[in-house]
Amino acid sequence: MPNRTPSRLAVALALCFSPILAGAEVPSKAPAQAAAPLPPGAAAPASTLRDGLQAARADRAGSPEATRAFETLAARFGTPLYVYDRATIVGQARALKGAFAPRFPKLKVFYAVKANTNGVIVSLLRDEGLGAEVVSGGELVAARRVGVPGDEIMFTSSSKRPDEIELAIRNGSVLNVDSRDELEQVSEIAGRLGKAARISFRINPGVDPHTIHQINTGISESKFGLHLEDGIALAAYARAKALPHVRITGVHCHIGSQITETSGYEATARKMLAFVRELKEKLGVTLEFVDLGGGIGIPYHDGETVMGSEDLARALKPIWDDGVKALGYEPVLWLEPGRFFVAPSGFLLARVNSVKTTPVKTFVNVDAGFETLMRPAMYQAYHRVRVVGPAGEVQKLDVAGDVCETGDILAADRMLPRPKAGDLVVILDAGAYGFSMASEYNARPLPAEVLVDGNDARVIRRRGTFDDLFRAEAAPAAPKK
Ligand code: LLP
Repeated sequence: MPNRTPSRLAVALALCFSPILAGAEVPSKAPAQAAAPLPPGAAAPASTLRDGLQAARADRAGSPEATRAFETLAARFGTPLYVYDRATIVGQARALKGAFAPRFPKLKVFYAVKANTNGVIVSLLRDEGLGAEVVSGGELVAARRVGVPGDEIMFTSSSKRPDEIELAIRNGSVLNVDSRDELEQVSEIAGRLGKAARISFRINPGVDPHTIHQINTGISESKFGLHLEDGIALAAYARAKALPHVRITGVHCHIGSQITETSGYEATARKMLAFVRELKEKLGVTLEFVDLGGGIGIPYHDGETVMGSEDLARALKPIWDDGVKALGYEPVLWLEPGRFFVAPSGFLLARVNSVKTTPVKTFVNVDAGFETLMRPAMYQAYHRVRVVGPAGEVQKLDVAGDVCETGDILAADRMLPRPKAGDLVVILDAGAYGFSMASEYNARPLPAEVLVDGNDARVIRRRGTFDDLFRAEAAPAAPKK
């Protein structure tokens, strides 16, 4: 059955409550200290589930608190399991606002829902005052159903269906238009509805922020946005200005994802503000907002140093101030990160099915794979992996997924304590583009999702079932006798 029973009994929950560290950004330098062994015979300190999760992040997955937390979660909810730490999500949102709001008094932050679409998570970020950036009708519904107001939704996609355009217009959301062709469709649909569509255009600024190729969106050859060259973007605004059912509200760009340095943002901000000035001077168009996109990276490696939200805010401040001065008015700065808010909150907990040493490698076969977490197979993305519980001998291991494909390796050539069948491994920073990219490939039901709040844990999406796999299919013909 998909809800796999753990091979070990869970240890009792520690009932003592310790304060939650909300409001703190996950450090841009990930800690890498070794486990501090307890003196022999010492009583394990009472700790919360959250303490256990954080101990694993701090490379203390062998500690009693981490062992207790993950064994408890696996026993209660089964594996594979996505576990999110509420305080980290709230803390990341507050860190970003804390870095930007004092420097940019006119600021609106959106959550890019694609990173994690779970309604409980979207609502946590809505409660922090964030709007939603969506890329499909389904994501728009995901935001609306937890009460994000329609006019606080930004709809971006380079390929929108007519019914999605209609949905965005009916909800009063901003349609972030990606082509002249789309603009004409938006105008026609808004006219038919007797409404004015709020629009911005997505600009391709031709900037390389140095990230993974597949998620590098602002380079000239990418499929996204209107180029600034040859007056292409300017002509689109001129046309929009002439259309009665279109109301120009802003301008947008998004140069990529998992960006770890500020230089790409700086170059982009300069280009965008120069363009906004051109709009005013050549077309007499003023904008309500300038959206500089999402893309803020997080440290996926132990000891890695990346740009933090404070670094980015500080780097953008003088560029913004100069641009605004030259412009003669101040638009609202819009930002729309996804990963930054949720990635560090997430843990993918998996159980070891078997361990095999071949003449070449040792494989730790776990009960998750690229159907559960696609990033390693798709982008060769690196996620830290920890083995839960008392450490075995440290050796070079591959953590292999359960999909019948050679490429399904979750982590290659890692120095890890050798686990045995039944042990737990936990994959860190899996809160963004983990569950949202999961599939039922190999007919494996989707994992459950759990939210940890201090010492509480609750299911925020139940585990998929075999019935779920086939629910939408037509009834097969009865077997021939
Ligand atoms: N805005 C737009 C228009 C986007 O296309 C994206 C992400 C975001 C905002 C949010 O970017 P973030 O802050 O999360 O980096 N599946 C890939 C990431 C794809 C990102 C696509 N667009 C991954 O697993 O790394």
